[in-house]
Amino acid sequence: MSQRRDPAIPDPVQSLNWDAERAKAFGDRIVELWGEYLTRLPGLPVAKHDDAGVVRRGVVTTVPDEPLGEDAIVEHLRSLAFEYATYPGHPRFMAYITGAGTVPGAAADLLAAGLNMNVGAWRLSPGPTEIERALIRFFAEAFGLPTGAGGVLVSGGAMANFTGLKAARDHQLGLDVRRDGVAAHGPVAVYASSEVHVTTDRALDMLGLGSGVLRKVGVDDTWRMRLDALRDAIRADRDRGVQPTIVVATAGTVATGAIDPLADIAELCEREGLWMHVDGAYGGPAVLADDLRPLFGGIERADSIAFDPHKWMYTPHSGGCVLVRDEARLEESFSAHASYIREDTERVEHEVDLGHLSPQFSRGFQALKIWVSLLAHGRRAYGERISHDAALARYLAARVEAHPSFELAAPVTLSICCFRYVPEDLPGGDGDPVARERYLSALNERIMTELQLDGRVFISNAVLGDAFVLRACVVNFRTEAADMDAVLDVAAELGSRLDAELRPSAFASLD
Ligand SMILES: Cc1ncc(COP(=O)(O)O)c(C=O)c1O
Repeated sequence: MSQRRDPAIPDPVQSLNWDAERAKAFGDRIVELWGEYLTRLPGLPVAKHDDAGVVRRGVVTTVPDEPLGEDAIVEHLRSLAFEYATYPGHPRFMAYITGAGTVPGAAADLLAAGLNMNVGAWRLSPGPTEIERALIRFFAEAFGLPTGAGGVLVSGGAMANFTGLKAARDHQLGLDVRRDGVAAHGPVAVYASSEVHVTTDRALDMLGLGSGVLRKVGVDDTWRMRLDALRDAIRADRDRGVQPTIVVATAGTVATGAIDPLADIAELCEREGLWMHVDGAYGGPAVLADDLRPLFGGIERADSIAFDPHKWMYTPHSGGCVLVRDEARLEESFSAHASYIREDTERVEHEVDLGHLSPQFSRGFQALKIWVSLLAHGRRAYGERISHDAALARYLAARVEAHPSFELAAPVTLSICCFRYVPEDLPGGDGDPVARERYLSALNERIMTELQLDGRVFISNAVLGDAFVLRACVVNFRTEAADMDAVLDVAAELGSRLDAELRPSAFASLD
């Protein structure tokens, strides 16, 4: 049937409207590239050593006026994938806390993008909304939260902490704060250990409370928050007329993986009327591992929990999650009613619109990659692999302790091992311990930089007290013991070379 043409309407813009055959052919070529990446991954360098100018010239072209054509686009993407990438999924990537990316999750993400539902409203995404609700129930149960708990997926740990802390702020200061702002309230205080992740400081800034309200409570020699110091800080604030409001306990600090004393903090929060938020961005998923679960005792008493599937559930970036003990707290904090969105809820029998539970209004189908990963691997495999990652970190720690040129820098709680290179023949600290420490920090910093540029293994660092130390974090189902061995081999090789280069001038110039 020929369509009637209205002369006022220009010709259709066919180049935006690919037919199914063309879409599938293009998609197949992208999937082909992904398959090639999976095949070649173990043999690729973890990272390449190009400066920003080289990368920019390699990946940036001017946006064309006319279509580029699939061949040229695929070539462009192939060079992006193989010339200008760092691979968190590489078995020898152990830097920061960056999950490997599940394979079924990546495939699911393609479908999620293809279907392009908006998971801000139930009617726009019936299946996806119910899947996200089911995931939230699964996670709430895994953390031991009671019926009535709820939550939502967000972009990552930063946003999960922000969202939990927004609910906390509004509950603790009263919902009027949403209208009147924080200026209408007296001074308040929030508590976390000195090891808290910077995203908590930034969340308090974004909440209008100011990062200055954060009291950084001291830690013990295993890097866990000191309860006595927390108690003292709360008392000192009350004495000064400052209102204590929230404690942020960390379950898996970014530097060492330490877990704050959750049960004791929960007890204190209940007694003092404070909101307990747990930043479990890294450590949280370890509640799925039978041997690690006991370390999280007390987390079930939290008012809110932030954790990241894209870290230790290995799902592709990005996807974090915030859970609250009582879902009403999220609704109260984020509900926003727009006049252009109307629904007769009794007639349609739909459920919650997830765009009312977090700062995001329109939302993608982030849940699918997490859901499909859980379906494809099963809960048990997750628990076993998380436990395996932690065993690898302990294995590295044991190798460090047995090595004459390495020193363990912190106890291993989860899957992070902190250590440093200490040349075997470096004189002890009797002469000038300060200069020695300074030299070791400078040396280990150089080792980290050269190691990242080298590309055979990729680790990062922690700063513990004043000491710069090396840090390997395993959130990768491809990593095995030989990869941990490679970390030490490469660090020892570079350490010995850099020590020979730096030591002669170091002590004189560091005075
Ligand atoms: C304890 C902790 N909290 C929050 C974050 C921030 O998470 P994201 O990078 O997913 O925003 C991190 C990241 O490493 C973390 O380790």
